[in-house]
Amino acid sequence: MFKNLLITKPIEAQPHVDAGEPVEGSLHGEVALKRTLGAKHLVMLGLGAVIGAGIFVITGTAAANHAGPAIMLSFVIAAFACAMAGLCYAEFAAMIPASGSAYSYTYATLGEALAWFVGWSLVLEYLFAASTVAVGWSGYTVSFLESFGVHLPAALTQAPIDFCTHEDASAGLCEFGSFVTTGALFNLPAVLIVGAVGALCYVGIRQSASVNAIVVSIKVLVILLLIAFGAFYVNAENWLPFIPENQGGDRFGWEGVLRGASIVFFAYIGFDAVSTAAQEVKNPQRDMPIGILGSLALCTLLYIAVAAILTGLVPYTALGTAKPVATALEMYPSLAWLKTFVELGAIAGLTTVILVMLMGQPRIFYSMAKDGLLPKFFAAVHAKFQTPHKGTVLVAIVAAIMAGVLPIQLLGDVVSMGTLVAFATVCFGVMVLRRTQPNLHRPFRVPAVYVVGSLGVAACLGLVAIMPMLNWIVLVCWTLIGFAIYFSYGYKRSKLRLAGRTSRDVG
Ligand code: ALA
Repeated sequence: MFKNLLITKPIEAQPHVDAGEPVEGSLHGEVALKRTLGAKHLVMLGLGAVIGAGIFVITGTAAANHAGPAIMLSFVIAAFACAMAGLCYAEFAAMIPASGSAYSYTYATLGEALAWFVGWSLVLEYLFAASTVAVGWSGYTVSFLESFGVHLPAALTQAPIDFCTHEDASAGLCEFGSFVTTGALFNLPAVLIVGAVGALCYVGIRQSASVNAIVVSIKVLVILLLIAFGAFYVNAENWLPFIPENQGGDRFGWEGVLRGASIVFFAYIGFDAVSTAAQEVKNPQRDMPIGILGSLALCTLLYIAVAAILTGLVPYTALGTAKPVATALEMYPSLAWLKTFVELGAIAGLTTVILVMLMGQPRIFYSMAKDGLLPKFFAAVHAKFQTPHKGTVLVAIVAAIMAGVLPIQLLGDVVSMGTLVAFATVCFGVMVLRRTQPNLHRPFRVPAVYVVGSLGVAACLGLVAIMPMLNWIVLVCWTLIGFAIYFSYGYKRSKLRLAGRTSRDVG
């Protein structure tokens, strides 16, 4: 039984890696995913997935409650963990361009049970992040419409339940950790945006990627405007003290900087989504590393610059709002025009995050279904659009329901935990594969792999370790549910085990 859980999928059994060859399944008369994307599309996909609620919403509260101006350092720490993981992702993605991302890499290296665990953790990342960001999208859209005199009824713009935060608890409004009812019905704009983006994903990745490229250009332009014009109004005194004195627990001091890093890690989530498009890339060996590392590097630069501008424009204590960028700009009447642009950029930015997340999740399910670990339903590919259409519809429905009824705070940290677990596993897996199969052709090799891989594992697990206990409880429950599904379905139907073949037999 234990040996069965460690069964690994031969690299040779993974989809082909050479550009121009037939795509997976096409030799057997199946409809397969189509190779249409290049490096430029991938960098745009990366920026589309990454720049969103993290920078437009979460940065402000993390600065106000935990790190102060040193939120810039928090971004550097989180970027370090992502860079280590990004390098490891690049090696795998160039070698195994399967749409299952970390799930597929783990299957090839650490065995089926861990692969399932990673795939299940990725659901936390993609599906739940799509819902979480849709709620943020709703907030910005409602406020944007209000500035033009359009008021939506409050009962249709909020989740019916909310989560009692530290701030609400200290104000005596509720008991920390408890759920509170808001009196609202559901969050209609959040449901509508998930529905619209889901429809786009159904029609095709080529169209999705083109729309993504236009919207990404808008949000990057808006961020550049914010940096360029905001810089003239920065008051360097707002940056002092750079690391405010610790006020107990993880409020400020170095503890706060680290907690800030675990919070703003959310802002980087998504660069790995580039790897889920691997089966639809024309030349994965060259393009995957460029797509993953290029988008990560660009985002890091933009984030640190935006964090510097925000904390320079106003005292960090003023940034603890739902729209910190707009809040900072409101202090300067001469920048009022920029505020409207920023709101538009945020709406655009959050839209593309939802798009990439909703594209990624069905493709991971697709890989898991191809392996027999999930029902065939998820492996179905549309005859005309060549997209995993059934999985896309189901994922969009579930994401829309969650976006309609769940509050944004509830899942932010849990999304990050699921992602960090997957990143740590990828970093570990890349080192394992270098030992077990040193002679495999690796179009991209992580430099000093044992140093980079070990630092990646340590940094990612370190960020998980400082998460609050409540998130740990959610993660453990999620994992237990996942393994219950695995043992009652996938374990018995795994194609690899049924075929009785392992990488050891092949290699
Ligand atoms: N990185 C994505 C965001 O910031 C998830 O919204």
